[in-house]
Amino acid sequence: MMLWPRMALENRLSGEDYRFLLREKNLDGSIHYGSLQSWLRVTEERRRMMERGFLPQPQQKDFDDLCSLPDLNEKTLLENLRNRFKHEKIYTYVGSILIAINPFKFLPIYNPKYVKMYDNHQLGKLEPHIYAVADVAYHAMLQRKRNQCIVISGESGSGKTQSTNFLIHHLTALSQKGFASGVEQIILGAGPVLEAFGNAKTAHNNNSSRFGKFIQVNYQETGTVLGAYVEKYLLEKSRLVYQEHNERNYHVFYYLLAGASEEERLAFHLKQPEEYHYLNQITKKPLRQSWDDYCYDSEPDCFTVEGEDLRHDFERLQLAMEMVGFLPKTRRQIFSLLSAILHLGNICYKKKTYRDDSIDICNPEVLPVVSELLEVKEEMLFEALVTRKTVTVGEKLILPYKLAEAVTVRNSMAKSLYSALFDWIVFRINHALMNSKDLEQNIKTLSIGVLDIFGFEDYENNSFEQFCINFANERLQHYFNQHIFKLEQMMPKACIQNTLAS
Ligand SMILES: Nc1ncnc2c1ncn2[C@@H]1O[C@H](COP(=O)(O)OP(=O)(O)OP(=O)(O)O)[C@@H](O)[C@H]1O
Ligand SMILES: [Mg+2]
Repeated sequence: MMLWPRMALENRLSGEDYRFLLREKNLDGSIHYGSLQSWLRVTEERRRMMERGFLPQPQQKDFDDLCSLPDLNEKTLLENLRNRFKHEKIYTYVGSILIAINPFKFLPIYNPKYVKMYDNHQLGKLEPHIYAVADVAYHAMLQRKRNQCIVISGESGSGKTQSTNFLIHHLTALSQKGFASGVEQIILGAGPVLEAFGNAKTAHNNNSSRFGKFIQVNYQETGTVLGAYVEKYLLEKSRLVYQEHNERNYHVFYYLLAGASEEERLAFHLKQPEEYHYLNQITKKPLRQSWDDYCYDSEPDCFTVEGEDLRHDFERLQLAMEMVGFLPKTRRQIFSLLSAILHLGNICYKKKTYRDDSIDICNPEVLPVVSELLEVKEEMLFEALVTRKTVTVGEKLILPYKLAEAVTVRNSMAKSLYSALFDWIVFRINHALMNSKDLEQNIKTLSIGVLDIFGFEDYENNSFEQFCINFANERLQHYFNQHIFKLEQMMPKACIQNTLAS
């Protein structure tokens, strides 16, 4: 029961039921009791005066953990994040969760000084940072002897892959205390290789991941990196044969065409990007001005992006491939296959005669080039591109494709080749990352997994693969909600039950 001062009770207006009592000291020292409503009126008036600039703005204090906001609602939460972002503080905690806001510019907060600074610190002791999250996972793994996992989520272009790279960098640095060698080098080299083959420029992000990846770094119980394992999910294959307006094919094609040496250009029969069907489909977006007047967006599709140096990117890719263990001969085979895919896309078809549906290739000069690059017989390639084999009971039928079918088959062949190449690259990377010690029975390993998937995107027309990407994001969000909110809410109940049982 609360006891209210007599004077306040006497002064209250009839019908007003005080729950809060405001005590104000007047200039002469006397005490004045006000109601909550009058206090709210004064506060609102003061806020309006400040907005108009009649009163000075109070010093805005920001909170590095949203849980410590005195009044937590959407507005205060966003204001706090905005306020911090203005001061280049892109990281904010929500308990043990880290919110990162993409600064789209380089910030000098990732150098070795910061690696050292965040080493073995309790979360929240220092300014929020991605290194602190990696550090907590690392030390929790060592202390509790339990595997850890870091899940990264956000829409396309929000900075998931960049954050993954910072996490992996810190996780390997912690193990070696600043000196990356052997397996750490391979782990660090795997990122750029996977990004060159699995990332592309999209309308939302110039380096958008078109596949999901889970990197698991394995450690000895002492905390030294043993090896790693990469798992890939759902590479977007449709991008290989068709790109939406203002989007590009996978980076590696542009790197190869810009950076190949004269000798490689001749050996792989390389042309300019605009001469390949798989790179030059300028799918202009129609802009309707009136009901019967369509015009097309004149913006050309991009072969280069501002600030990009494709030659340099090709050199970086070669170096990363070398780090991961791709020998020059293997690299050449990979580039030959990429070139074959581009030439394959240039094959076009025509109807042989008007009488039947049989088809022919209208630019047969491309066939020997593709057959040479793929190292397959020209006749076999031709057969595969124009005919289908069907086996019935005791009979083998060879039927010609129809025009539309043949184009689909050509595209499917290109997609299968690229997809198999990507799988093989992941397999080779895993082979290089696998440490023979991992396989020994007597060595107990611990691990930290980092999940970086393709981000949510919302287009006017979402393709089936886009639907899969968005569905995966929604499932991940569900998993997050389940663990962070639902299980957390259940926790006290479980604890109470345990206490009662004991
Ligand atoms: N911490 C950061 N500091 C500086 N720039 C950043 C940072 N995070 C992201 N960026 C910039 O934003 C771009 C997009 O980030 P990123 O590719 O990581 O997004 P994503 O969430 O992985 O998107 P997607 O889902 O399309 O793969 C990066 O290429 C980089 O230029
Ligand atoms: Mg990404």
